[in-house]
Amino acid sequence: MEPISLSQYERVVFFTGAGMSAESGVPTYRGRGGIWAQYRWEEYACQDAFDADPDKVLAFHQQRRGRVLACQPHAGHSHLAALQGAHPGLSIVTQNTDGMHQRASARDVVELHGSLWRLRCARHGRIEDLAAAEYARRACAECGATLRPDITWFADSVNAAVFARAQRLIEQAQLFVAVGTSGIVYPAAGLVPLAARGSARMIEINPDQTELSGLFAEHVREPAGTAVPRLFKY
Ligand code: OAD
Repeated sequence: MEPISLSQYERVVFFTGAGMSAESGVPTYRGRGGIWAQYRWEEYACQDAFDADPDKVLAFHQQRRGRVLACQPHAGHSHLAALQGAHPGLSIVTQNTDGMHQRASARDVVELHGSLWRLRCARHGRIEDLAAAEYARRACAECGATLRPDITWFADSVNAAVFARAQRLIEQAQLFVAVGTSGIVYPAAGLVPLAARGSARMIEINPDQTELSGLFAEHVREPAGTAVPRLFKY
């Protein structure tokens, strides 16, 4: 595929998943070395697990923070952030909770599945930011409940306002680029058919075929770290 000049599109959405951070060393969820092949989500990533043993769940998330902190954003993250700096209509909608886009200086990232770097009260929704290296046992200032990671766990609902914002951005997009997502976790994966129903140019960047590949007109079977800088310019 020839390099694409983004200036010809007024509204552009990059929709990213775990594969976006894979070359930084952040494990993906599925496939070889995937998080859910090593850990049962029923024990580490759902409200029931947290209610049963908050310390175990918090320790798992603290370990993940440590792993992410040891990783650096790669050329794809940096390039995307620079493109966004040049193009006011470029949005990043991510399923990732690792904050790597932001560490590469991307702004206003739409985090569909929350963030490893925030805590939330399960009762009030009150959200608190977390310092990078901080161990995450904190009580809600309103009710005293132990705050949980502000991540969309299994069986949680996604944040409705965040999801609605992603929908609006995607409905308006003239170019939609999915990077490094298996497209099997809903409702996030449903944003791909939403983009395809409009008139957006649809590009998938992923070394492997996915469940949603059929919805894309163009496929780039390359890793994100090389494909994103090579294919997009302002
Ligand atoms: P997955 O782990 O399901 O899929 C990662 C995708 O990235 C796969 O399709 C890989 O082929 C692709 N991939 C791997 N290396 C890549 C690279 N270097 N460049 C580009 N693509 C690469 O991750 P997600 O689709 O993000 O939910 O998973 C969706 C959700 O499932 C996550 O947000 C997470 C998980 O449970 C929550 O944490 C709530």
